Amino acid sequence: MAFTFDFSNKNVLVVGGTSGINRGIAETFAKAGARVAVVSRSQEKVDDTVQSLKNCGAVDATGFSADVREVDAIKAGIDNIAANWGKLDVVVSGAAGNFPALAMGMSPNGFRSVIEIDLLGTFHVMQAVYPHLKKPGAAIINISAPQAEIPMAGQSHVCAAKAGVDMITRTLCLEWGVEGVRINSIIPGPIDNTEGMKRLAPTEGLRIAVIKSVPLQRMGTTDDIANACLFLASDLASYISGAVIPVDGGWAQGGAAVVGAGLAEMLKGMPKNK
Ligand code: COA
Ligand code: NAP
Repeated sequence: MAFTFDFSNKNVLVVGGTSGINRGIAETFAKAGARVAVVSRSQEKVDDTVQSLKNCGAVDATGFSADVREVDAIKAGIDNIAANWGKLDVVVSGAAGNFPALAMGMSPNGFRSVIEIDLLGTFHVMQAVYPHLKKPGAAIINISAPQAEIPMAGQSHVCAAKAGVDMITRTLCLEWGVEGVRINSIIPGPIDNTEGMKRLAPTEGLRIAVIKSVPLQRMGTTDDIANACLFLASDLASYISGAVIPVDGGWAQGGAAVVGAGLAEMLKGMPKNK
């Protein structure tokens, strides 16, 4: 079934938009006629993505390099984009870090790095975009993860961080709804050919176990997540706010636990994680 979304005259910011799922989201908004901006730490990845957004048909594409942990740099870069464009209509916040490690196999700094990127970084982005959102009508989408709701061995840092991200979503829904700003989280399932899945299912055995554990019996694609973002950012979703929505082939209904079990088995053999 063909269904077309029109985001012409809409300004879309995708934080962490230079690879994987988030880049797929940025490119999808570009194809739907939006102006699109991306942010990540690597200027090289930003430049490559901006070129790709233009190739996808973006009316305008831009970006800047900054670490979401650096509040001043994030705010300055976002202020600059908003000054050029006048307003922001859609913000997707998905910068994240992950590595598999049992709690006793990571230092406090390892735990802190993921909390600071995923959770504090999300807060920095929310504060930075707020003054520039076109209200009413603005839509924010935070990219969460199954770990927000399903405890997984080897993922205590991500579980804690992404649960916090979803509570930011739900709390800001209360604070900003009165102004017509909608904010939702998407929880992607296992998405094929992404850095996240390379880290969480690094062996062929784990990959097959993951596929079998998804009720729909396949990994997701970046398009699966991007299409959900198009819907949530569109007027079709004008009464949806504060929702935490799995886009995961049914994985959250039980199968996702297979990742934690697989990681626990894999990490047992590693000296740092005993
Ligand atoms: N096991 C245990 N600890 C680990 C680890 C692992 N596999 N990988 C990193 N760490 C620890 C480091 O040892 C360090 O702690 P220390 O200073 O006490 O030694 C801490 O984590 C920070 O590592 P560092 O490499 O300095 O952090 P960074 O800020 O440069 O990178 C990461 C952040 C670690 C999350 C990095 O993997 C990253 O940049 N990820 C982005 C891409 C990604 O994760 N994509 C998937 C998204 S789902
Ligand atoms: P990815 O390719 O590693 O994408 C992460 C993006 O964030 C990159 O653009 C990266 O670019 C940027 N980034 C990382 N740390 C940053 C920082 N400190 N400051 C600014 N930007 C930063 O990962 P992915 O697998 O596609 O995951 C994308 C999102 O989906 C994440 O939020 C993840 O938690 C979520 N998710 C993924 C899966 C999956 O199956 N892959 C499942 C559930 C949820 P730089 O390196 O240039 O900074």
